[in-house]
Amino acid sequence: MINMDDNPDIVIWDEKYATGIHLIDSQHKELVSLTNELFHACLGEEETLEGVFKETMERMVNYVRFHFGAEQVLLQRVGYPDYHEHKRQHDTMVLKILEAVKEYNEGKQLVPNQFVRTLRDWILGHIAHYDKLYSSYIAAQKEKGLLSDKEINV
Ligand SMILES: [Fe+2]
Ligand SMILES: [Fe+2]
Repeated sequence: MINMDDNPDIVIWDEKYATGIHLIDSQHKELVSLTNELFHACLGEEETLEGVFKETMERMVNYVRFHFGAEQVLLQRVGYPDYHEHKRQHDTMVLKILEAVKEYNEGKQLVPNQFVRTLRDWILGHIAHYDKLYSSYIAAQKEKGLLSDKEINV
C-alpha cells in the first residue's frame, strides 16, 4: 500500500497557472491530476508498474491531445494572432511525448519516475509561458470590448 503522506504529489495546482478561462483551467487541472496519478503509478509495486504505467500514460497522451485540440479551437475562434506558433508548440510536445512512450515500450532506458518529472516540466512550462501569452491576449481583447465571455466560454 502506498502511503500518500510519504509520497506527496509532484505537481500542486497554483493560481499562478490560471488563465481565467473556465474550460481551459479545468482541463489544465485535469492534466495536473493525471501527472500526479502517473507519478504515483511509478511508485507502485514493481510487478504491476509496467501495466499501470502504460495504462495511465495512454490516458495522459489521449487527454493531452484532447486538451490541445480544444485549446486550438478556442484560439482560432478568438482570432489569436500567434495561433500557428502555439499549435507548433503543441505538435512538438505531442511528438516528444510519443517518442518517449515508444522508447519505454521498446524497453529502452527510461526511468518512469524521471520521465514523469520531465513531462510535468514540459506541461507546466507550456502552461506558464505559452498559455499565459494567449490568456493575456484574450484578457486584453475583453478589456477593449472586442471579445465577450460568451465567445470565450462556448
Ligand atoms: Fe493548455
Ligand atoms: Fe497550449
